[in-house]
Amino acid sequence: MKILAIETSCDETAAAVVEDGTNIISNVVASSKNMHEKYGGIVPEVAAREQLKCIIPVINEALAPFTHNQQFNHGIIQRHIDAIAVTIGPGLIGSLLVGVESAKTIAFVTKKPIIPVNHVLAHMYANFVHISRSDLDNSDSTIHRNTIRFPAVSLVVSGGHTELYLIKSMKELKWLGGTLDDAAGEAFDKTARLLGFGGRGGIAIQESAQKDSAFLRKDSAQTNGMYRVQLPRPMIDDETLNFSFSGLKTAILREVNRLRDTQQFNNIIIQQLSFEVQEAITDVLVAKTLKAAKMYNARSVLLSGGVASNLRLREKFSYAIQQCSNVALYTPPVSLCTDNAAYIGAYAYFRGKSVVWKKIDAIPDLSVEK
Ligand code: KG4
Ligand code: ZN
Repeated sequence: MKILAIETSCDETAAAVVEDGTNIISNVVASSKNMHEKYGGIVPEVAAREQLKCIIPVINEALAPFTHNQQFNHGIIQRHIDAIAVTIGPGLIGSLLVGVESAKTIAFVTKKPIIPVNHVLAHMYANFVHISRSDLDNSDSTIHRNTIRFPAVSLVVSGGHTELYLIKSMKELKWLGGTLDDAAGEAFDKTARLLGFGGRGGIAIQESAQKDSAFLRKDSAQTNGMYRVQLPRPMIDDETLNFSFSGLKTAILREVNRLRDTQQFNNIIIQQLSFEVQEAITDVLVAKTLKAAKMYNARSVLLSGGVASNLRLREKFSYAIQQCSNVALYTPPVSLCTDNAAYIGAYAYFRGKSVVWKKIDAIPDLSVEK
């Protein structure tokens, strides 16, 4: 079964064709990130206007394997595609509407079933698509993902969400906990702005933190006894599986102001703060996920969402999982962690239910607590 999936919940415009929920035939993403970097964050109006411009070219490119690069038409979809899947929420209303209305129009014209998809739940299904080794090391074999054993504990960690789920089977999900305030990605993004990285977000923090690690390694004599900023690990020891990250942003703001007032705010300090905030966020994410894995005797731990591309987080998870017996770690390649439509198609195949096109609406505040 081939699904044409469409995703426009935030600032990406994405379309993919996925076969049987596992084989990616095409996966196209256009982002307006560069424009948002200029403004220091996502501007919803700008995002939606850009998405309106590129939705048709993006769908066209996703269908290129069937059209030989000609414009797609309803005949092509009728012949090659079995269903349309689209993200209906949660997300930005203007952005969601672009994808939802496009998908509804295609479903109406081609008379294909349409499957509404919850963006946050779908993130986890990035773990179920097969990975082409060419993404990793240029060989041409495929890593099959049908080895995931249940129950699995799944951490979705993105710009707007930090959620833990128990996956009992391909079809059975249970929400275990989530953030009480800011998401982990939001904490990365807000810190990045406070430290002068504009809208570059978590990736800028990761790069800056790497420089701090290199500095520490190189110059241990000089750095021995040097003042190091220490941040709290919010809620790391509490009983629930919830998170809280808004205090980190306040702690960083206080530290930045203090260092500016005493003329100590410089590049070395920025790298140090980046390192420490990354350590604080990743420590909490690993501890809570492992706590959930122990509570539910998980046999697999799955990571997904944009923050799951963080190298330090991946490193800490692999180390922590090695210490647990009989638990396997699954992490999608970076290209499938950040927003794209391939996992929308995977989710639609494994868990989706088609509905009449007229019944589909964009729902910006769609619940993620299933
Ligand atoms: O999943 P995603 O692309 O979009 C949402 O659904 O929100 O996640 C975007 C988030 C942003 O907060 C971004 O700063 C963060 O993922 N992110 C990272 C890294 N790459 C992206 N955070 C930490 N380290 C990274 N390498
Ligand atoms: Zn996302």
